[in-house]
Amino acid sequence: MNTQLFGKDFITTEDWSRTDLETALEVAADLKRRFAMGELHDHILRAKTLYMLFFEESTRTRNSFETGMTQLGGHAIWLTPAATQIGHGENAKDTGMVLGSYGHGIAVRDCRTGIGQKYQYEIAKYANVPVFSMQDDVDHPCQAMADLMTIRERFGNDLRGRKFTIAWTYAPKYVRPLSVPQSLIMLMTRFGMDVTLAHPKGFELMPHTLEAARAHAEENGTKFEVIDDMDAAFENADICYPKSWGPIMVTEEPDEVQKMVDEHKDWIANERRMALAKKTAIYMHCMPIDRGYEATDAVIDGPQSVIYQEAENRLHIQKALMALTMGGRI
Ligand code: CP
Repeated sequence: MNTQLFGKDFITTEDWSRTDLETALEVAADLKRRFAMGELHDHILRAKTLYMLFFEESTRTRNSFETGMTQLGGHAIWLTPAATQIGHGENAKDTGMVLGSYGHGIAVRDCRTGIGQKYQYEIAKYANVPVFSMQDDVDHPCQAMADLMTIRERFGNDLRGRKFTIAWTYAPKYVRPLSVPQSLIMLMTRFGMDVTLAHPKGFELMPHTLEAARAHAEENGTKFEVIDDMDAAFENADICYPKSWGPIMVTEEPDEVQKMVDEHKDWIANERRMALAKKTAIYMHCMPIDRGYEATDAVIDGPQSVIYQEAENRLHIQKALMALTMGGRI
């Protein structure tokens, strides 16, 4: 356990050692138990403030961070570019310096391709408080940690030999970033699982995240493979995580995206595919889900689905991350 995490940024799990991440998972489990037992723990971040800057919309992330701050005794303030001078061009340095001088943490969601994660590191360079990624173009570290917590709750902490499948799915609505699949391949290969990534041609992830996953698999004695067959990905899987993302490495031009996406309407999580996985397999999704496109209602609402536990665990893991980095010893 590393209890020396005060002041540390959480922009990607790649910046945290396995011991650091284990500490966060242990603290999250403890805070989850305390919450369930009605044990107040509002001394941990009493009178502390978190600024939450959203470049994009959110249901889970905003509400779990804000609620988490309330439960820890602090306060969270919701900001957008339009509600601040960022919309008029104020830069990351000025934003980070000022917010860091008022409060105790800054959380940012910025999924702009090639910009989002860099912007967060720029804020972190100048802010003298921890900076958290609430999702960017590269990583969604809080989501991946909540997912890992959910998997451990189901299968235990020893995940060696478990097959984790992240598969692309069709979805007609909006182009989702690459950050969720990227965060999953980078994290799960560090925690014992054999990871299969499946997608059609054109839906590749950022090369450096694939490299990181390969390196982690090598270091940790796990497997990492990339295939283009959704059925094969589901076969014998313990964890099925089908979700959509855009062909961002090829194009973000809406008409071209639509054309590419529409060629793969058969990439859906349905009961036939879930039957290819182990009987004990779980179905996961970070939400929001395009019901009827990414997965059928029978799968989403079926007995193997753990989507609401995943969403709930966002609260507990983020509270742990904030408590460890913004709280510290008395
Ligand atoms: N999973 C997730 O980040 O959900 P929101 O976009 O609603 O925050």
